[in-house]
Amino acid sequence: MRDDCERLDDLDELASLRGEFRLKEGEIYLDGNSLGPVCEASSERVNEVIDVEWAQGLVRSWNTAGWMQEPTRLGDRLAPLVGAQPGEVLVADTLTFLLAKLIGGALALRPERHVVITDQANFHSDLYIVQAMAARAGRPVTVKAIERGTLRDELNDDVALVMLTHVDFRSGEMLDMKRITEQVHASGALMLWDLAHSTGAVPVDLTRATWTSRRGAGTST
Ligand SMILES: Cc1ncc(COP(=O)(O)O)c(C=O)c1O
Repeated sequence: MRDDCERLDDLDELASLRGEFRLKEGEIYLDGNSLGPVCEASSERVNEVIDVEWAQGLVRSWNTAGWMQEPTRLGDRLAPLVGAQPGEVLVADTLTFLLAKLIGGALALRPERHVVITDQANFHSDLYIVQAMAARAGRPVTVKAIERGTLRDELNDDVALVMLTHVDFRSGEMLDMKRITEQVHASGALMLWDLAHSTGAVPVDLTRATWTSRRGAGTST
């Protein structure tokens, strides 16, 4: 088994990238969920931001160091990873804060509907934030955490939003994003995808031709 793994490592065209991460010799770290390892480039960049841009540039750095443009500049660089166009991706808060804003926005866009559907096996903080936002909707909104595979039966004209995670953080199961989104849109609801374990890990295509409404939010740590 170990020999097989080492042979596959030798064939891996991305194997040399391991050297860019600060990991102890021999440490096998597979947790991409919550916190990945530090990469050397980000350590250097964080120090530059603090010691030069912040310490010396002070408030001027919003303009002189380009901080103001970072959400869109970095978003444009990440866009190809999810098949989006320049100007369509923003780097902003943590995923949970972004989901809160998008859930709030989606509920405001469907004021006549009272149900949000999510997956009972969804990431825990996604389940907490959807409950919290439903409670703050200013009208009665019920969150239904359903069993995977039963979505079609649950969709009706009272569903405002469906919020799912594309790749399951435990099992790696990947949902059929295009088919599910089309189903949800056909029912008149909005679709919100958490791409935490998809962006940069599996092919994602958020092309304008296929998608007409809410897009996804994602991070990679
Ligand atoms: C699937 C999924 N959703 C949401 C989150 C929460 O992300 P954040 O800490 O950026 O709010 C995580 C964190 O690992 C995650 O794996």
